[in-house]
Amino acid sequence: ASLQLLVPLHGVLMGKEIVDNWERVEQFQARPDDVLISTYPKAGTTWMSEIVDMIFCDGDPEKCRRETIYNRVPYLEFRIPGEPSGVEQLEATPSPRLVKTHLPIKLMPDSFWGKNCKVIYVARNAKDVAVSYFFFHKMVKALPDPGPWDKFLDDYIKGDVGYGSWYDHVIGWWEKRNDYRILYLFYEDMKEDPKREIRKILHFLEKEMREEVIDKIVHHTSFQEMKNNDMVNYKTIPNELMDQSTTSFMRKGIAGDWKNHFTVSQNEIFDEDYKKKMSGTNLHFRMEI
Ligand code: A3P
Repeated sequence: ASLQLLVPLHGVLMGKEIVDNWERVEQFQARPDDVLISTYPKAGTTWMSEIVDMIFCDGDPEKCRRETIYNRVPYLEFRIPGEPSGVEQLEATPSPRLVKTHLPIKLMPDSFWGKNCKVIYVARNAKDVAVSYFFFHKMVKALPDPGPWDKFLDDYIKGDVGYGSWYDHVIGWWEKRNDYRILYLFYEDMKEDPKREIRKILHFLEKEMREEVIDKIVHHTSFQEMKNNDMVNYKTIPNELMDQSTTSFMRKGIAGDWKNHFTVSQNEIFDEDYKKKMSGTNLHFRMEI
């Protein structure tokens, strides 16, 4: 069922509830010590959120608030009528705040740049994102019914999905990464060597940690641990909103699962289009590791 209509906002398809509340998002007041976690949907947002929150509480899960990840890292532009919006949640959050967003860079509230906030961007290869987003649409009742995989893939290639084109998103943030304080990371690198990537994050946040504490964070944020952790696996969301009976939020957590879903012909069409859309950039993805 499609409860949430997608409507264009400055040329980018977004949930109607978000667009209706847009003024509040646009006027959002950032604080200099806000740390923003930005991604295209399904790129590893929850994983990065848990890593950074763990860093914020010195690697001690007991020190972290026993709350769900969506309360610890409010979702800037999100809004369900009748519930506090992401903006309202953030206004009530003490500093230092962690902020989650899926906004393309051109739609970011200016305040983040005015306050020179640090941003951690996570990018994931286009094919695995497509597969993950497809299953997410099946699970989340507020998203349009994706239809069969073939049709969803077609919409995704055209950018006719929530938050618009994957290409515009990853390229938009990539091109501005040196203009602001943006740490641009890749899901595939995190899979390959989470410790190495966590060290990059620590350096970026100007924090130091003992080796054993870093190891603890690596363990706590592994796919297996997160899958079983109800504070991050979205199992506390009621079934009517997110139905995890056929596919779970913590679905596979690997690089290269697209090979189990793309047909040879879908892959050829995708690759040809990909080459064109990525030709003007020096942004490179690994499709498997
Ligand atoms: P899959 O559907 O491919 O399994 P987001 O948080 O941006 O919505 O991204 C969700 C994707 O990240 C899902 O991908 C999920 O399984 C994966 N994921 C979540 N936690 C992870 C972890 N600790 N390690 C690896 N992948 C993780």
